[in-house]
Amino acid sequence: MTDQTASQRTDPIRIDPSGSDLHAEGDRLRARGPVAQAELPGGVTAWVVTDADLAKSLLTDDRVSKDAYLHWPAWENGEGELARSWPLASWVAERSMINAYGGDHRRLRKLVAKAFTARRTAVLRPTIETLVSDLLDDIAATAPGRPVDIRGEFAYPLAIRVICALLGIPAAMRADLFRVVADMFRTSATLEEVQATGEELYGLMTALIAHKRQTPGDDLVSALIAARDDEESAGLDETELVDMVLLMIGAGHETTVNLLDHAIHSLLTHPEQLRLLQNGDATWDDAIDEALRHEAPIANLPMRFAVEDIDTGQVTIPKGDALIISYSAVGRDPAVHGADADAFDIARPTRHDHISFGHGVHRCVGAPLARLEASLALPELFARFPDIGLAVATDELQPLESFVSNGHRTLPVLLKQA
Ligand code: HEM
Repeated sequence: MTDQTASQRTDPIRIDPSGSDLHAEGDRLRARGPVAQAELPGGVTAWVVTDADLAKSLLTDDRVSKDAYLHWPAWENGEGELARSWPLASWVAERSMINAYGGDHRRLRKLVAKAFTARRTAVLRPTIETLVSDLLDDIAATAPGRPVDIRGEFAYPLAIRVICALLGIPAAMRADLFRVVADMFRTSATLEEVQATGEELYGLMTALIAHKRQTPGDDLVSALIAARDDEESAGLDETELVDMVLLMIGAGHETTVNLLDHAIHSLLTHPEQLRLLQNGDATWDDAIDEALRHEAPIANLPMRFAVEDIDTGQVTIPKGDALIISYSAVGRDPAVHGADADAFDIARPTRHDHISFGHGVHRCVGAPLARLEASLALPELFARFPDIGLAVATDELQPLESFVSNGHRTLPVLLKQA
């Protein structure tokens, strides 16, 4: 081996900020071993985990933190160069529970668990059924032969309206809020764009919380405000409250849109599997799990930090280094799913064996809601439009400009193929 080849093999793999081919990137990382060094946008280095067993073990290891302020020296407590100029800074700067560690995380998670009960999800069922049916009515009115962007015209408005119903976001505030939140996922944005988005977002959030404080309802934001304003409570400061609501909005809609988008795309490109569902030979839960495994809606989540040196068996991740779990690569780990891990197969025995909702203390609190939405939306869509098909070839579809959010920019379909 020449010296040049040796140095190429140890150079960190450069993560594409525009997420143009997440799975090819995952394969390149996996070829280096269960965990490999990568360079993120902005020149920040991180260890990326692609191995399912290692991911699960790190996600349940107290030596792994999500709090940059406590455990990432390079972050300089949010007062250094990274906070000023790193385009991905908002992923670690926010003080919500997704970035909290240890006792702080337990306190915030307990408050959310108190407000985001199983009942709150269950009561949304009739609302979701009506939303699905109304949106499909709108789509049914499309002129014959005109393509419909099923992501933009069905998955997206459904997920948005459900999260608005859950959180009690008034109709007048929705358009601005979701435009700005969508901008946050664009990991290729410039620093100026990120800063402008952040300012606008905080303005909107402050207005939302002021409104809910004046006119509380039976919704999650009101329940969180009650927890915040209750002096007896475990405490939630104002920044935590804003960031928590923001987290719910951000984590709660684009992820679900991606799940619906990929599930629809995969079923349209695998009609024999759609038939299994329509004939009752497979369940929609099987299809939902396989879609989650095959195309993890959150591909990579920035960021985690080593609290101490961590010996993974292959390498030692030094204390203070950053790491990322690549949920999209973990979902396709051949050690778990076999040599055909890249194939979509709703009958695959390991279809439930994925961690696309996370694992350990930060496991997704909205998973039951996302599953409920998908289990109501998907069967109804395919029942209403049994002749639905893709309007363009799969290789013409464009991925979202993100290495975090895994979906298509649009998913054009024809309700009735010629
Ligand atoms: C298909 C849809 C969804 C997917 C794939 C998904 C995925 C995830 C993942 C991977 C995590 C763990 C993050 C980590 O590694 O630290 C997470 C956490 C979280 N999710 Fe979801 N999510 C979905 C829907 C939702 C919904 C509908 C909501 C809220 C209504 C939600 C709220 C949250 C929150 C608050 C956390 C943070 C939990 C914590 O830090 O303790 N998610 N989600």
